[in-house]
Amino acid sequence: MREEMTKSAAPGGGSDHPVWHGRWTLLMAATGSAVGLGNIWKFPYITGENGGAAFVLIYIVFVLVLGVPLMLGELGLGRSSRKSPLSTIMDINRERGLPKGLDLAGWIPQIGSISILTFYSVIAGWSLLYILYSLMGVFSGIDAAGSEEVFTGLLGSAGVMILGHTVFMALTAFIIARGAVAGIARSIGWLMPLLLTMVVIMLGYSMFSGEFARGVAYLFTPDFSKVTPAAISEALGHAFFSLSLGMGAIMVYGSYMQNQENIPVTGTTVSLLDMVLALGMGLVVFPVVFAYGLEPSAGPGLIFQSVPLAMGNLPLGDIFNVVFFSLVAFAALSSSISLLEPTVAMIEERVQTSRPVITVIVAGGTWLVGIAAALSFNHWDEIKIFGAGIFDALDFVSGQILLPLGGLVVAVWSGWYMNRSAIREQLVMSDALFSIWEIAVRYVTPLLIVLVMLGGLGIISF
Ligand code: PFF
Repeated sequence: MREEMTKSAAPGGGSDHPVWHGRWTLLMAATGSAVGLGNIWKFPYITGENGGAAFVLIYIVFVLVLGVPLMLGELGLGRSSRKSPLSTIMDINRERGLPKGLDLAGWIPQIGSISILTFYSVIAGWSLLYILYSLMGVFSGIDAAGSEEVFTGLLGSAGVMILGHTVFMALTAFIIARGAVAGIARSIGWLMPLLLTMVVIMLGYSMFSGEFARGVAYLFTPDFSKVTPAAISEALGHAFFSLSLGMGAIMVYGSYMQNQENIPVTGTTVSLLDMVLALGMGLVVFPVVFAYGLEPSAGPGLIFQSVPLAMGNLPLGDIFNVVFFSLVAFAALSSSISLLEPTVAMIEERVQTSRPVITVIVAGGTWLVGIAAALSFNHWDEIKIFGAGIFDALDFVSGQILLPLGGLVVAVWSGWYMNRSAIREQLVMSDALFSIWEIAVRYVTPLLIVLVMLGGLGIISF
C-alpha cells in the first residue's frame, strides 16, 4: 500500500518531497478533487437560482476556455516546483527578482482552500446525516412537503448539523494526517464509475418522471435576458470551484505527480469528466423538481429535497438513497482532502513538527469556523457580514473573490512569470497547442477574470 508514495529527488524540489506512483494515481486524485459537492450539490442549485440554461452555457464556456488551460498551468506549476503553492509562487518570484510584495499572491490559494473547507465540511456533513436518515427509512414514500420538512428540520438542528460537520472534518483530517491521499485516490478508480452509474440510474428515473423535456429545456434553452453580471461572476467562480482551480489543490497534487505522466491529457480528462458529471446531475435534478412542483430556486437544499423524494418513491428507494448519499459523502471527502493538503504541506515545509500535529491544528481551526457557518442556519442567523449570513459570506468571499483571484495567480504565474522553457517542458504537446495554451493563460484568462470580477462586484457594468 505504501509503495505508491516515495520520496524523490525531483528536479527543482526538496529531496524529501513525496511522489505518487501508479499510472492512474494523479488522474484519480485530481478527479476526486474536482468531482464533489460542486457538481452534485452546488451546480444544480446555483443553476436554479440563476434561471437555468443561459447560466449553464456561460459555465460551459468558462470551463472550456479558462478552466482547461488553467488546469494544465496549475499542474505544471506544481510539478515543476514540487513544493506547496506558497513556496511555488515565492520561488518563482525570487528567481525572477520580483518584489517581495508579490509573495502575497501565494497566500491567495492557501487562504482560499481553507476558507472553502470551512463550509464545505458542513454541507458534506449533511450528506453523512442523509445516509443515516435513509437507513432509518425517513424517506420511504415521502411527499414534497415531507421532504422539505426533513431538510428544514436539519437546518434548524444546530447540534445534529455540527455532529455531521465534526465527523466529516475528522475523516478528512485522519486521511491527511496519515498522508494517505494517494491511497484514497485509488478508491476513486471504482467509486467514480459507481457514482456515474448511480447518476445514470437516476437519469433513467428522471426520464420517466414526466417532466424530463422540461428539465432539458430548462438546462439547455438559454434565455439571455436573465443573465446579469452577478450571474456571470457566479458562473466563473463556479467553473473554478468545480475544477478545484486557483486554490492550490491541483497545484499540490501536481507536485506529487510523476514526471512521465502527461499533464495535458490528464488535465483535460479531469476537466471534461467534471463538467459532464455536473450536467448529468442537472439532468437528474430538474425533471424531478418540476415533476414534484418544487422550486428550482430552492437554494442549497435543492438536491437534499429532490433526490430523496424521487428515490423514496421507488422500490428499494431507501437503498438507493443510502448508496447515493454515501457516494456524495465520498466524493466530498476526496475533494476536502485536497482542500486541507495545501495548508498542511505549506506548514510542513516551514515548521519542524509532525504532520499529524499540523493537521490537527489546521483542521481544528477550520472546524471551528465551520461551526459558525453551521450556526448561521439557525441560532446565529441574525449575524450578518455585509448583509450576508456567515455561511453565505464565506461562500461569496471564496467563490467570487478568492477563486477568481487564485485563477488569476495561476494564469499570470504559469503564463508570464514561470520560466518559459520550464513550463514548456511540463506541458508535453504540439507547438501549435502550446501556443493556444499560452494565449489562453497570458491574455484571455486574465482579461476575462478581471472583467467578470469587476462586473460581479458592480464596479463596471456591461
Ligand atoms: N472541486 C470541488 C467540488 O466541486 O466539490 C471543490 C473544491 C475542491 C474546490 C478543491 C476547490 C479546491 F481547491
